[in-house]
Amino acid sequence: MERYIIKGGNPLVGEVEISGAKNAALGILAASIMTDETVTIYNLPDVSDVKVLLQAIQGIGAHVEYLDRHTVRINGSNISELSLDYEYIKKIRASYYLLGALLGKYKKAEVPLPGGCNIGTRPIDQHLKGFRALGADVRIEYGSISTSATRLTGTHLYFDVVSVGATINVMMAAAMAEGTTILENAAKEPHIVDLANFLNSMGANIKGAGTDVIRIKGVSRLHRTEYTVIPDQIEAGTFMFAAAATKGDVTVKNVIPKHLEALSSKLIEMGCQVEESDDAVRVYCKNKLRNTHIKTLPYPGFPTDMQPQISVTLALANGTSIVTESIFENRFRYVDELTKMGARIKVEGNTAIITGADHLSGAIVSSPDLRAGAALVIAGLAAEGYTVVEDIVYIQRGYERFEEKLQSLGAEIEKVSTEKEIYKFQLKSNAS
Ligand code: EPZ
Repeated sequence: MERYIIKGGNPLVGEVEISGAKNAALGILAASIMTDETVTIYNLPDVSDVKVLLQAIQGIGAHVEYLDRHTVRINGSNISELSLDYEYIKKIRASYYLLGALLGKYKKAEVPLPGGCNIGTRPIDQHLKGFRALGADVRIEYGSISTSATRLTGTHLYFDVVSVGATINVMMAAAMAEGTTILENAAKEPHIVDLANFLNSMGANIKGAGTDVIRIKGVSRLHRTEYTVIPDQIEAGTFMFAAAATKGDVTVKNVIPKHLEALSSKLIEMGCQVEESDDAVRVYCKNKLRNTHIKTLPYPGFPTDMQPQISVTLALANGTSIVTESIFENRFRYVDELTKMGARIKVEGNTAIITGADHLSGAIVSSPDLRAGAALVIAGLAAEGYTVVEDIVYIQRGYERFEEKLQSLGAEIEKVSTEKEIYKFQLKSNAS
């Protein structure tokens, strides 16, 4: 079982290149099979979620060719199977994006029901509401969602909740429906805009992505394209808060500063300096951090995927902070792990009350999910002594070369598999 061993105390200093956005890439890869022509996608993050979705796409008969670690060529003309194997959905929920893509293109699709996950129950009622509104028959039986339609017809749909996944899934199906679809109360995340731009580059007619009303004029076919995925705002944010927690000076490069505004403004509130340029953001903090309060919200609010990372940073700030998680019902599972390191956090329902501690101390902790795992690494980097972070397979789902990028910023961190390697790391770092 791989884990990270970290010796804390080094301020992170330097520059780090941010990879492509995982949550944009997953929607774009699903949509890429909606044409029978060849699609080339650049700047894919080299993370396990992307690899699994590409395997799922190959599994239904599409041709997938890796040109390099970050570039794939996909051709969906020979798709022979419209039913996805369970092995993919159990690895990543986002394989359910193939529902919208296959329904849009073939008017038929079957995908096993994704279960809940570590951060919450994660219903998909809004996805199904959208497919039904387009005229599809949707049935849940034997653990799968089967959907089909003789034709898909444009509709005017109001989402009951703002849902990234439902907006993505229904936008894909509507892109090849007959007539116009209006999606109201749509999600506005950068990855929604990226998917709309990708589909438009294939000949779709989508306007308003990035606002809460998206208008989609259906087209009968989509064509080849070459497309570059946007940078990952959550990976960038993770490094920005790691800089703050370790009192470092880090520049995240290859980013879109606009996508990071909610994060930058919180870092400034907490006493950090933030400097923006066209495609980079520098974060440096020399003083003791100040407390603040946050409530996670759909974009452009503070993102739920950054809630564990800011909470860890606030655990080292002066004063008491209140963090309210309004998106998922079980996203504080890392708090018990953080408490082992000396953090003083009390969770009441969907709110965490954080009393800043003078310091954290190293411990053996376990990653409950992707972003919480990254946050525990930040805690280890800031803590005194050694921290072992277990179950890092979660972290590798969404962070490319995480330990290498941190090492380039001066972190003492290694990926190890045995006790012997942990001991060797400790001997080496004590000697240095
Ligand atoms: C996407 O999940 C992301 N995953 C999540 O990132 C992210 O946390 C989330 O959006 C919010 O930004 C991917 O993009 C692959 P939602 P998704 O539908 O689409 C409720 C990560 O770390 N809801 O926007 O599943 C739902 O329960 C992952 O990369 C319904 O009620 O999130 C939640 O409370 C973790 N019915 C809220 O909406 C539905 O049909 C927002 O969920 C759908 C959602």
